Order: sequence, then C-alpha cells, then structure tokens
Amino acid sequence: MATAENKKDGYILRCFSCKTEYNVDDYGKFYRCAKCGNLLEVKRIPAAPGRFNRRRGLRPGVWKYFDLIPLWSEEKIVSLAEGGTTLFDCRNLATIFGIRSLFVKFEGLNPTGSFKDRGMTVGVSKAFELNYKSAMCASTGNTSASLAAYSAKAGMRCIVLVPKGKIAMGKMAQAIAYGAEIYQVDGNFDDSLRVASEICERDNKILLLNSLNPFRIEGQKTVSFEIVEQLGGTVPDFVVLPVGNGGNITAAWKGFSEIFEGGLEGTVGNHLGKNPPKMIAVQAQGAAPIARAFRSGLRDSIEFVSNPQTEASAINIGSPVSWMKALAAIYDSGGLADFVSDEEIFAAQKLIASKEGIFVEPASATPIAYLSKIAGEKSDAYEQMKDACVVCICTGNGLKDPNALLKGVSLERLQTISAEAKSLETVLA
Ligand code: F0G
Repeated sequence: MATAENKKDGYILRCFSCKTEYNVDDYGKFYRCAKCGNLLEVKRIPAAPGRFNRRRGLRPGVWKYFDLIPLWSEEKIVSLAEGGTTLFDCRNLATIFGIRSLFVKFEGLNPTGSFKDRGMTVGVSKAFELNYKSAMCASTGNTSASLAAYSAKAGMRCIVLVPKGKIAMGKMAQAIAYGAEIYQVDGNFDDSLRVASEICERDNKILLLNSLNPFRIEGQKTVSFEIVEQLGGTVPDFVVLPVGNGGNITAAWKGFSEIFEGGLEGTVGNHLGKNPPKMIAVQAQGAAPIARAFRSGLRDSIEFVSNPQTEASAINIGSPVSWMKALAAIYDSGGLADFVSDEEIFAAQKLIASKEGIFVEPASATPIAYLSKIAGEKSDAYEQMKDACVVCICTGNGLKDPNALLKGVSLERLQTISAEAKSLETVLA
C-alpha cells in the first residue's frame, strides 16, 4: 500500500505492471508484486521533497548521480570506480555505414570489464545498507564476475550459478579470482536463474542480484545520464544495444525517461525540448524472443525460446525475465527490435576492433552487426538513422572471451620467422 513511509526520501518501490506500491527497503523480502506477480521497479517521485542537488559532483562515475539513486547513506557505498566510461566518436565506422554521427559507449572499460558494474555497485551497496551478508546470482558470466568483485569488496558471501560449459573462460577466471562460490548448473542460463530465484525467495537472508533486482537497474540507468552529458547536453536520436535478459535496455530507457520527466536541474539537467532516443534492441538470431515478439506486434505477451543457441554466450537467453520492461522501452520510445546472425556478430566484432581499435565481446558487437546489416539492406530503419546521431552501447570487453574470437583463427597459419631482422626484412618486402 502507498503510505507516507513507502515514499522514503522521494522514492517508492512499485509494480511495473499494476503500480501497487511498496516500501523501497522491503525489497528482498519479496521479489515480485504480491498482487499480480510482475516485476518491481524503483520510482523517483520528481515532485517529492527529496535530497536532490545536494552532493553534486563529489564523486566520479556512477556515484556522481548519488542524488538520483535510492541509497540513503553515502557510508554504505561499495565502489570499484565504475562508470565514467568513454563515448568514442567512431568516424571510421560512420563512414563505412554512411551514418552521419556514430558513437560507441564502451562499457568494457568498467572495473570488471562490463556494464554490469554500474548496476552491481548500487545493488551490492543496497544489500550492504539492508544488512545482507550473502548475495546470489545466475549468470552467463559477466554478472557473476561483477557480483563476485563487489561482494569481495563488501566482505559478503557470493554464490553464483552458471550454465555448465556455456560461459566464457575470462569471466569464469574472474569469479574464481574474486573468491565466489561457483556452482555449474546442468542446464542453460534460464534454468540457472530459475534455481537461484527459488532459493532466494525461500531464504530471505540471501539477496538475489540478477537484473530483476530494481537497484541494479538504478545503477545501470546512469549510462544514459553520461551519454547526454558527453554529447554536450543533447540527447541522441537512436540508442542501439544488445538485449539478453532485458535489464540493460530497461535501465538505459529509465535513465532517458527520468531526464525527460524533469526535476534533474543541477544533475543531468532537463531536456524537455527534444524527444528521447528511440531504443533499438538487438538480439542473436538463435536467442531472440524479444525481437520475435516485436516483429509479431506483441507487447503484453511473449513466446520464450526453450533451447536458445548463440555463440554470443552472454546473451544466450531464451526466457528473458525483464521481457515486459524491455518491450515497453522499445514501444514507448518508438524504437524497434531485431536480430542478427552469429556470423554477422563475429564479422562486426572484427570490424569495430580493426577500424576503431575497440575490442568488444561477441554479445557487445550486436549493435554494430545490426548497423552493418541495415546499411547493406538500405532498410527503412537505415533511412531514418543515416542522418541521425546514433549511440551504440557496447557492453563488455573482448578480453573476456578470447576463445570466441580465436575459434576461426589458426595460429599455426601465422607465419613464423627466425629471430633475425634479415628474416623479417625478406618477409616484409
Ligand atoms: N551484453 C553483455 C556483455 C552481457 O553480459 C549481457 C548480459 C547483455 C549484453 C544483455 O544484457 O541481460 O540486461 O539484456 N549478461 C547477463 C549475465 C545475462 O549474466 O552476465 P541484459
């Protein structure tokens, strides 16, 4: 019920679907709306007398926006210096695709190498503030690496479930190094998340930190604040991003929406004169339930993919938990969803590395693969985008998954030379 107490410091927790309101600090006692079973979100009440504009600019990265994040005490911040990633002006790719203005927000520059750190710093800080001693997640790799790092910093127990044999080795190495308890699930990511959710619902002492956790979304939304600030206070026309479980697009859209709701004077600023960006969701062909739902014109229902298949392991997800929020972001922004093949993904991964010097992991190359595809087809979407300002969010670092890239490369075929300059001279000539 909506009570004055629920509206702590200008925030409420509410159901994304039926809008039933709860107390923000009760999250974790339950994960879904008691009334309709849908996902919850944290909502800032722009008109509420909150604490906005008090601590502007004291910290870099995500916590620069402390005033826009539902954590009550600065003492509880668990940070590894996340956010503040570079927005690259990718003129070489812009020329190749024939797009006026193309930027890449490279989230691989975060402390554990993916965008997950933005959400995890807030999720773990909130867990710390709420006195949790244990955290859990299911993961295709990046979430587990990130949760493991932040739990280590917070001194919390970290339990991660990963689909056996389906996560990149770099990510596994990170989880091991940061000291997580790792369990390999004999199944896929969707199975792993089902098990993790069941356990956390039963045991209120372990907080579930998958992206259905709305505090994760509150951290991840800061990517949009940064994009607007890095573009000199303007909003891009299109934002293209990979979609798996749907948390990423939910968060990015929430960030832009908050800018347009107003009340951010002194932080990001208000941008009411222009439209928010159209959100373009890109999935891998073999794991594309959201893109297929969009193609069928569905918004309030979806058909899951029971056996998702893509080499872009980070987004090998058939039952995206945040599908409803993701579809809402796509429709409400006037955007679209589409998919690309694994072949197109790997070609795009090489293209952005070789033309811009940015090495992203396969899942993160999907936005580039999409632009490459529509530029080739000269599709309607391309006609809209070619004279626009387009930002691709490239979510993870290529170093996490070297095997995926090296799969098609025979190191034996690289030329060997004797250790003498003469030998190289002959070859170079
Ligand atoms: N890009 C990368 C590199 C990811 O790791 C993920 C998701 C996504 C994109 C998609 O984001 O799920 O919020 O739509 N990785 C999760 C994980 C599932 O466990 O690391 P999403």
